[in-house]
Amino acid sequence: MSPPMERARFLRQSRVLVVGGKGGVGKTTVTAALARMAADAGLDVLVLGLDDAGALPVLFGADVTFGYDEVLLYSGPVGQVRGRVITPDDALLEYLMDHGLRRVAKRLVSAGVLDVVSTAIPGIREILVLGKVKQLERSGAPDLLLLDAPATGHAVRFLTSANGLMDAARGGPLRTQAAEVVEMLHDPARLQVLLVTVPEETPVNELVETAFRLEDEVGVMLGPVVVNACFLPAAGVGQGWLADPQVLAAVAAEPLEAREAGSLRRAAAFRAGREAVQSEQIARLNTDLPLPQLRLPFVFSDDIGPEQVAELADAIGRAIEQLDERQLQAALAAASTGEEAPPVGSEPPVGSEPPVETQPPVETQPPVETEPPAEMEPPVEREPPLATEPPVETEPPAAASS
Ligand SMILES: Nc1ncnc2c1ncn2[C@@H]1O[C@H](COP(=O)(O)OP(=O)(O)OP(=O)(O)O)[C@@H](O)[C@H]1O
Ligand SMILES: [Mg+2]
Repeated sequence: MSPPMERARFLRQSRVLVVGGKGGVGKTTVTAALARMAADAGLDVLVLGLDDAGALPVLFGADVTFGYDEVLLYSGPVGQVRGRVITPDDALLEYLMDHGLRRVAKRLVSAGVLDVVSTAIPGIREILVLGKVKQLERSGAPDLLLLDAPATGHAVRFLTSANGLMDAARGGPLRTQAAEVVEMLHDPARLQVLLVTVPEETPVNELVETAFRLEDEVGVMLGPVVVNACFLPAAGVGQGWLADPQVLAAVAAEPLEAREAGSLRRAAAFRAGREAVQSEQIARLNTDLPLPQLRLPFVFSDDIGPEQVAELADAIGRAIEQLDERQLQAALAAASTGEEAPPVGSEPPVGSEPPVETQPPVETQPPVETEPPAEMEPPVEREPPLATEPPVETEPPAAASS
């Protein structure tokens, strides 16, 4: 049996981890969870946000302004998380100042020179930002740089821009910059991309397409896929015992009104539908994209703050420890060379939760002792904020999984 993956070792495989995925799948949340987990594993982490990254301090409960200057987001017993924003304008300003144009730099940038230049040279914004990432990476100061990448469409453009500029610029500093960025993107010891999805059809489709595009067009190394917001199997759901009024009354310790029982049944049907969709999509992702999966639970909370991030950090840490190191290396190497990958679909689930398919039979958990899980409340109140599918609470579960 091959050795389990250690958190710190996993995180030290590349100095830069780019966290990408479709809009709203949880990139910023996953970035925060990874950062927290890395800091608790003893690493000094720098989180980089692009343009709008206002949510990051909230996720760490840090009362700081998140901007150009590095700020402390989390200080743990053995490591810390700092963070800052990189914008193309700031990166240009720094670049000009570092290249002997200190006196005019501010004026050029505030006059909007970048807007003019970027229409003439597509990709320059991205190169400025990636150039800055590369500079930070080379500085070696943080152990790990986590980049909260833009949503998918932009992320592909973001990462392909360097290749585009290499083709466009024959020489000069711009080409040098682009070449150095491409070098970083091609070196798995320096940079990997972690794609995030939720277990739903459209985000999974988009993730698979993005993964292939990033491999083909950028030649970047893809790390395991993060499947965020997975529902844990809930007691009773799928076994139909919520349809039995006597069992319901036993669970609630009193007879339920017809309206309450109806709500519970609809909630259970909704949940069963979600679980069915989830199993189907996770299996499809496994088949279509032979990369290991790190599954994170859906967090039932009105807001996600430091406590929930800590919970997710722990879940991602446990999921990493369950990765089979040899299998991971083989899958990643195969993915980067385009060869046929090992059958990761046959491995045990790597997530923090038991697989949906192996939900224990209802007989093993007497319903009377089982409090109805909070998430079984009427679906309207519990609809996940990031679900993109139409609500299924009025549908029979089978329809939701089609
Ligand atoms: N595991 C989870 N459980 C429950 N809710 C989650 C989970 N992960 C993220 N969310 C919620 O989903 C929403 C989107 O998350 P987040 O902002 O991290 O996504 P994003 O991919 O960064 O979005 P954007 O593309 O807009 O930057 C937020 O309301 C967040 O609190
Ligand atoms: Mg975000």
